[in-house]
This record gives sequence, structure tokens and C-alpha cells, in this order.
Amino acid sequence: FFEKSLVGKTIITTASSTQEEIDPVRYISNHSSGKMGFAIAQMAFNMGANSILISGPSNLKAPYGVNRINVKSALEMLKAIENQIRLCSKNDIYLIMAAAVSDFKPKQPSAQKIKRQSKDMLILELEQNPDISKSIKEKYPHIKLIGFAAETNDLIGNATIKIEKKGLEFIVLNDVSRKDIGFDSPNNEVTIIFKDGKTKNLPLMSKKEVAYNILKHL
Ligand code: PMT
Repeated sequence: FFEKSLVGKTIITTASSTQEEIDPVRYISNHSSGKMGFAIAQMAFNMGANSILISGPSNLKAPYGVNRINVKSALEMLKAIENQIRLCSKNDIYLIMAAAVSDFKPKQPSAQKIKRQSKDMLILELEQNPDISKSIKEKYPHIKLIGFAAETNDLIGNATIKIEKKGLEFIVLNDVSRKDIGFDSPNNEVTIIFKDGKTKNLPLMSKKEVAYNILKHL
């Protein structure tokens, strides 16, 4: 049994990593599996929301009842979010950014496979991807944004800065220096930091339970 407290709301959740092409065979990415974002999208549907999942590459099965949209790069993810916002502009919309978006991408991806060099070193020039959360909040201020933070040091300090910078209602802090939680684990132990500075520590629990604990704050 799930409380249907999200009826009438549209919840767009992003999940997994993004892939930024270096050449046709290589890319820059990270360790996100998508488990956290998929659990949120499934729980949002269970709680009555119109649930949309925008996912980077992931082997996970599409959650039941959820509209899944597949993307690869950060720029594709940004475009897909904007398309969905335009399609449901009259609804009460929340964007939950659980994806681990690559902050950098190769400045000039090569059209052909890069060959071994005669020198020992290959220098790749990277440029910054747009901050998806910040761009969406600036363009669509009516959207309520929930962020995630994957941190390895000064956890609360680094996560708190992101609340204001990205225009978030609250942020879900993950300690990704721990091997038993965070990336790819079925469980997570997170702290929710609200924009008024209040914090809520959640004990170790399944990602499904974390999802419920996040969604009940919407
Ligand atoms: O997928 P799993 O294996 O289950 O792992 C879950 C997780 C650890 C990946 C997830 O819970 C998590 O922490 N996701 C956020 C990872 C991240 O990118 O954190 P960040 O601190 O770099 O970014 C902060 C926030 O800004 C995030 O909400 C991110 O989606 C968003 N962002 C980041 C970069 C960018 N260019 N645009 C963004 O909007």
C-alpha cells in the first residue's frame, strides 16, 4: 500500500551517469548505476504522480508505469528535461536531479578513433557542461528543484553551497567515499539539507526507502 500523496504532480527524475564522447569508441563518465534515480521514479509513480524518468545509459529495467526517456550526454539530458517541461507546463512540476552529470566534456570530440601517439602523453582539452539545475531554474522559475550531492570531503559545507547556487528546495547528500553506500549499492545513507538550513539524517536503508523519504517532503 502506498499513500497517494503525489496525485496531480508531475515528477521528472534524472538518473545514472552521462557519457561525454572523446571519439567514437571512448567517453568520459562516472560510476552512477541509475539505481537511486530509478527507485525515485518508481516510488513517484506508486505515490500517484505522473512520473517521468530521464536516464543516462543504464542496464536497469524501466520502472513500471514510468515514462522513460534515454539520453547519453549532459546536453541531451538538458534538452530532454526542457521538452518534458514544455509538454506539461500547466502541472505542478518537480525536477529531481539524481543523475551524476559530467561537469566536463571534451572540447572537440574526434570524428575518428584517436590513435596511439608517438609521444608518451595525450592532452585532452575539456570544457564545462552547462549546470543543468541552474539553467532550468533560471528559465523555468516555477519548477521546484531537488538536488543530490555526491561528496567526498567537507560534506555538509559543499552540499549547502549547491542549494543556493542551483536554486534547490533541498539537497540529498551522499558520502561517495564510502564503498557500502552511494554508487551502485542497493542501499544508501543520506542527509537531507533544506534551504532553511535544517538537516535530517536518514539511517542506512534501501534506495526504495530513501526514495519514499525524499518524496514525502514534496
Ligand atoms: O546511480 P547510483 O549508482 O544509485 O548512485 C546514486 C548517486 C550517488 C549517483 C546519486 O545518489 C547522487 O549523488 N547523484 C548526484 C551526483 C552528482 O552529480 O552530484 P554533484 O554534487 O556533482 O552535483 C550536484 C547536483 O547538480 C546534482 O543534483 C546533479 O544532478 C546536478 N548537476 C551536476 C552537474 C551539472 N552539470 N548539472 C547539474 O544539474
